[in-house]
Amino acid sequence: MKDILSAPFMEEMVRTTANMYRHGWDERNGGNISLMLDQEQVLAYLGGQVLRTIPTGFSAPELEGKYFLVTGTGKYFKNVEYAPQTNLGLVRLTEGGTQAQLLWGFSDGGSFTSEFPAHMMSHVARQKANPANRVVMHCHPVNLLAMTYVHSLDERAFTRTLWQMCTECIVVFPEGVNVLPWMLCGTNEIGRATAEKMSTARLVVWAQHGIYGAGRDLDETFGLIETAEKAAEVYMKIAHLPWINTITDEQLHLLEKRFNVQARPGFLD
Ligand code: 13P
Ligand code: ZN
Repeated sequence: MKDILSAPFMEEMVRTTANMYRHGWDERNGGNISLMLDQEQVLAYLGGQVLRTIPTGFSAPELEGKYFLVTGTGKYFKNVEYAPQTNLGLVRLTEGGTQAQLLWGFSDGGSFTSEFPAHMMSHVARQKANPANRVVMHCHPVNLLAMTYVHSLDERAFTRTLWQMCTECIVVFPEGVNVLPWMLCGTNEIGRATAEKMSTARLVVWAQHGIYGAGRDLDETFGLIETAEKAAEVYMKIAHLPWINTITDEQLHLLEKRFNVQARPGFLD
């Protein structure tokens, strides 16, 4: 059996958590990632032996038999590269998603992220929107977070501001961002609310908390959050200054045409 620590998906997960930490998106244990894997990918490295079973506290029949590499609750992204086996776990969902069989990791007796409901429910929502979706990523990027204190949380207004901050934003996330008001984190309730928002956009801002991103792979999802965070950074640098120039709706329409993307209906004038 090949060493799972050298699996491409493991190396990419380790690189991604380290990168996110370096970006300042994941202080302490902030943030969590879940990466859906195919059975063949997993069985090339593991015999399928169940180490223990962890109840999930929710049901997700759509994810029956699905495999996820996921970050652990209370674990620090900065430490993942030094001890993947403690800070990450590989689980298979069974019994309608109510149970998670641990196949590898969480070697100190730990468990998956407290945001597992939001992750798993978001996977269900994104798979319906795009069956190629594999990643759900949550983190606490400083400028997006700051923006939720000083900007309207209206999704159209929030999205338009981000689109106006960097030319490429509308190309990277033409569907815009959805926004949840402050809610108690780590619950099934915020999980359901996040998943509902995920059905129409790959980015969901959690006001006064952080952001969720979803995508086909870790790189794409990282890039999505990175682009939105860069736009929020520009906004936080200029929000208190007089605005003399902006990107107009006419110019945003030109970008739509040039890059063959469709802006969220109703979000442009
Ligand atoms: P976990 O340590 O349980 O993953 O929680 C971190 C977090 O960001 C909660 O929203
Ligand atoms: Zn968080």
